[in-house]
Amino acid sequence: MVDLTIEIAGLRLKNPVITASGTFGFSQEYAPYVDLNRLGAITVKGITLLPRSGNPPPRLVETPAGILNAIGLQNPGVDYFAASILPYLSQFEVPVIVNMAGETVEEYAVLANKLSELNNIAALEVNISCPNVEKGGLQFGSDPAAAAEVTRAVKNNTSLPVIVKLSPNVTRIETVAQAVAQAGADALSLINTILGMAIDLKKRRPVLGNIFGGLSGPAIKPVALRAVWQVFEEVSLPIIGMGGIFTAQDALEFIMAGAKAVAVGTANFINPRATIDILEGIENYLRENKIKRLSDLVGAAHCKQ
Ligand SMILES: Cc1cc2nc3c(=O)[nH]c(=O)nc-3n(C[C@H](O)[C@H](O)[C@H](O)COP(=O)(O)O)c2cc1C
Repeated sequence: MVDLTIEIAGLRLKNPVITASGTFGFSQEYAPYVDLNRLGAITVKGITLLPRSGNPPPRLVETPAGILNAIGLQNPGVDYFAASILPYLSQFEVPVIVNMAGETVEEYAVLANKLSELNNIAALEVNISCPNVEKGGLQFGSDPAAAAEVTRAVKNNTSLPVIVKLSPNVTRIETVAQAVAQAGADALSLINTILGMAIDLKKRRPVLGNIFGGLSGPAIKPVALRAVWQVFEEVSLPIIGMGGIFTAQDALEFIMAGAKAVAVGTANFINPRATIDILEGIENYLRENKIKRLSDLVGAAHCKQ
């Protein structure tokens, strides 16, 4: 027997494999393929205070080793989520992490408050890769002070664990991590997508309706791994690592770089059972290498021998 349990911000997970926000819908679509009860946790797609219809199409482009998406946080809003989705998710024995987004600090605060009044939410994951309409559209996540302000606003309006999801589109991700840690974050998720674009030669125009999109998938794995390593070295909060995790080997690399848990995103689009395959691969690795506890591997690559 190997012990796959881990603890993140007071949450005890039966294993480290989580779904990445926006790539697993609200889980219903995946339930025919994945026994949801086997997952460490489910992170749902980003929720906002009001419904959002998202960006104009096209919203997805394939790239040689990943995808560019500009969905624009399309979602049915918090009230619909509470009435029609949370009851479905509550039937499973799996912690539900709600990914939340806003355009002003006030919006994050109100949303955190609303979500905290609901039952069966295990934690909030705060997406700070959103344009701050009060600061000319600059992303909260690219400014340590704005990232800290959002974190404080959410913390002041919830008793749930607060996981802040960092953007890689910054010069020093550790600086943002330190700022949100000081503002009271209980854990960190990293990374969100990397800003990119594609051009259509026939139209001589950007492919995406939004011009820019977020790159995800295998192309971003080395960048994400580097970010986890750097944040682990400088901040003592638990880390959920993500970015191009397609196999158990990828997941184990993130754990050795310092992640306590991993989230699987774009891989779900190619193999709907990716989460389970990764979970089983991690378990096999521990068994074959006679490692009793997964937690013993967290940050193992940092040990200087
Ligand atoms: C189609 C799509 C939608 C996404 N939606 C969200 C979202 O609503 N909130 C969020 O914080 N991250 C969102 N993400 C980012 C992922 O959760 C994840 O951080 C990123 O894709 C890197 O992981 P991956 O390479 O395994 O996909 C989305 C990613 C994709 C591809």
